[in-house]
Amino acid sequence: MTEKIRIGIICGGRSAEHEVSLVSARSILEHINRDKYEVVLIGIDRSGSWSTLTEQQLLDGLAMKASLTAGPSSEQLVLRPGLKGSELINLARQQPLQSLDVIFPVLHGTYGEDGTVQGLLKLVNIPFVGASVLGSAIGMDKDVAKRLLVQAGMPVARFLTIHQGEQTSYTYDQIIAELGSPFFVKPANLGSSVGINRVTDQNHFKNALEQAFSFDRKIIIEEAINGREIECSVLGNENPIASLPGEIVPHHEFYSYAAKYLDENGAQLIIPADLPANIIKQVQIMAVKAFAILCCEGMARVDFFLKNDETLLINEINTIPGFTSISMYPKLWEVSGIPFAELLDRLISLALQRFQSEARLNTSIRT
Ligand SMILES: Nc1ncnc2c1ncn2[C@@H]1O[C@H](COP(=O)(O)OP(=O)(O)O)[C@@H](O)[C@H]1O
Ligand SMILES: [Mg+2]
Repeated sequence: MTEKIRIGIICGGRSAEHEVSLVSARSILEHINRDKYEVVLIGIDRSGSWSTLTEQQLLDGLAMKASLTAGPSSEQLVLRPGLKGSELINLARQQPLQSLDVIFPVLHGTYGEDGTVQGLLKLVNIPFVGASVLGSAIGMDKDVAKRLLVQAGMPVARFLTIHQGEQTSYTYDQIIAELGSPFFVKPANLGSSVGINRVTDQNHFKNALEQAFSFDRKIIIEEAINGREIECSVLGNENPIASLPGEIVPHHEFYSYAAKYLDENGAQLIIPADLPANIIKQVQIMAVKAFAILCCEGMARVDFFLKNDETLLINEINTIPGFTSISMYPKLWEVSGIPFAELLDRLISLALQRFQSEARLNTSIRT
């Protein structure tokens, strides 16, 4: 029998989506083919500390609806930059762990999906699943992502960007004149709808600005779009493919943090979405285009608004989408003919392929 691939699954992390990440990791563990892969779990606690994690510790963390805490059997880990091999070091024993063949960072949001962990993994020289440093950072920054989409001629909601210290550059009336009312105020680099407000009056505007700036030094203000929320999964490196689209029907004013995580009936996921064939085709073409424009690799979920006049706008891209067993990304692939276990196989192969093609590049000029 061929040797198993040793895969490190990193979960937890410092973002608001710590717990979602644990649920995603559990569902990956449930679906991954254990005949092919030997899984090494790595947990990042809320303070950012890395340690080994047993499957039982992951389940306990979930059962208590708590965050990861290092148990007595946990071994704190550090990553050592350098050539591949012996990259994970047990801090207490000062000993390297057995080398990993690939890592799947199952981390959502800041310090996980934004290029920071990807940069670390590049320095350590381990292949990893999903977008690399640039694609991750672009995908996280709603302002930069939108500007690149606009430059490529892709439709997005009209928006303004405001940097910290420029709060007074637009009055409420000027924003309404430019974007209409209501409008959305969002931190540029965040996720899970944290810090997002739908603004309907001047007082609310002040609070929304304050809240968004409490999460980021840059915010965006966007026209409110009246329409359906459509999502599409993309998979691949150079020649990515798109799944059937799905639809989110929020039961709140919008798909807020509460609708996503606090209210069990906060939203309905329709998989696949009930859409005419021409719109499905258009969503898929646009999703694949956006994936390339935004420098993504491996996987991403591209989110759209479908307006009442049947025009599509791109809302955002998520480079590490949710992987729970009810999450849109794996569910859309399932209905498009790629079951969860095969999806994992493909993502891991894509990670290894990218690593090999990068390894062939010259990194210095030899004379
Ligand atoms: N311009 C907009 N018009 C209408 N609804 C919006 C707009 N922007 C955001 N929303 C609502 O807020 C939710 C979260 O916004 P989004 O930009 O996707 O941020 P996040 O990265 O936190 O998911 C969306 O799913 C949608 O329900
Ligand atoms: Mg979103």
